[in-house]
Amino acid sequence: MFRGARSTQCDRNYGDFFGLAGRVTNIGPVARMPNVYIETYGCQMNLADTELIRGHLSRSGYTSVQDPETADVILLNTCAIREHAEERIFGRLGALAKHKNKRPHVQIGLAGCMAQHFREDLLKKTPHLDFVTGPDAYRRLPDLLAGDPFVDVRLDKQEIYADVAPDRGEGVRAWITIMRGCDKFCTFCIVPFVRGRERSLPVDVVLDQVREAAAGGYPEVVFLGQTVNAYRDGDSDFGDLLRSTNAVEGIERIRFTSPHPSDMTESAIEAMASCEKVCPQLHLPVQSGSDEVLQRMERGYNTSEYLRLVDRLRAAVPGLALSTDMIVGFPGEQESDFERTLDLMRQVRYDNAFMFKYSSRSHTKAGDWDETVSEDEKGSRLQSMIGLQEEISAEINREEIGSEVDVLIEGPARRRDDWLAGKTGHFKTAVFPAQGSAVGAIARVRVVDSTGHTLICATDQ
Ligand code: 5AD
Ligand code: SF4
Repeated sequence: MFRGARSTQCDRNYGDFFGLAGRVTNIGPVARMPNVYIETYGCQMNLADTELIRGHLSRSGYTSVQDPETADVILLNTCAIREHAEERIFGRLGALAKHKNKRPHVQIGLAGCMAQHFREDLLKKTPHLDFVTGPDAYRRLPDLLAGDPFVDVRLDKQEIYADVAPDRGEGVRAWITIMRGCDKFCTFCIVPFVRGRERSLPVDVVLDQVREAAAGGYPEVVFLGQTVNAYRDGDSDFGDLLRSTNAVEGIERIRFTSPHPSDMTESAIEAMASCEKVCPQLHLPVQSGSDEVLQRMERGYNTSEYLRLVDRLRAAVPGLALSTDMIVGFPGEQESDFERTLDLMRQVRYDNAFMFKYSSRSHTKAGDWDETVSEDEKGSRLQSMIGLQEEISAEINREEIGSEVDVLIEGPARRRDDWLAGKTGHFKTAVFPAQGSAVGAIARVRVVDSTGHTLICATDQ
């Protein structure tokens, strides 16, 4: 059974803990382990980083708690990709400040991309903030919490946290960050500025983590990286890594996110086609269907190259489910550019899409350009785009009715008592009546109905 086998590493180092002398006296009369509460915002990379931070802090004597009321340290692991994400986090910080009223020793900090984005300015902007730690500084977080210094946002070209064991949460899916940073510098994107340059973990470290995930009862691994398929370790490329991972016993499914179209090599496509554990599903961000816009975004491909890649992928992996990211209202985007994006969506017929209004970001090239599309216009383009995608997703899901799908069971369905939910190989949510199937097992079920978001299934017994 997957559940029972899971190991959570809590090999706390009391020596380190008592080394943090300032912390013990601050907590109050009872010397106890300090509690840390972490909230995560943004992408899967951040969720995986939270697991790293939790693992690292637990080895320095911190206990992870689920409620800020009981925390000595409150940490927000943040996202800077769009302004809206940052506004939400500032709002949340304001709300969390109340914990310092009753318990003044509580330390509140920001980690992640937004920490890197604003750096020292954050302490000036938010008086109740105690510390700021950037994505390459988590190793030094215990020192930071001891008050030395208060801001640590040094980017480190070498930092890959190869030796820091994550404290993985519940679930059937283990995230493994195989590369960090990005060298692409798309003109809209802040990531290269806050996450630094591209660097990969050695193959043997990744494979060790995959084996640990299997031993810990996670049947699925998801490789993460800002441009995950740019992965390279010496002569081994991303395709080689997929092939080696496919041979690891105990792993049933392999996924990865997010690949960049320009890094989708023949080796990676071949690995997707030949490795039975690699799911027939791909998130392939396109951003726009207009060649002019793509050029100004400096994405490194045009629409015909992207569509050729989609054809090659679909020829190699029959039935491949595709999802994407798209931005509306990039500077200079005309109505005709937007129409081209809708055309591309109709042509590719994505199973799913993440759609965003352009948000101007400091440091980026486009951040210096005038915005030409009003907020209202961005909003209405976004709504049309979402409407089209919903139609396409619903159509594709309807076509699944009558077919059999393999569902990796994640737990009870949210909306129906006594039903289970999980993901298909295509990464679609499927629900079906519970028949004693265990979390972590793969159930073969038949699709009997669908919505744009969910496959409703039946077991055949
Ligand atoms: N504005 C809006 N969306 C953005 N993304 C990245 N930067 C921005 C921005 N400045 C989107 C892209 C990317 C996804 C993770 O976030 O679509 O693929
Ligand atoms: Fe950002 Fe482009 Fe790098 Fe993706 S590839 S993280 S969009 S700069």
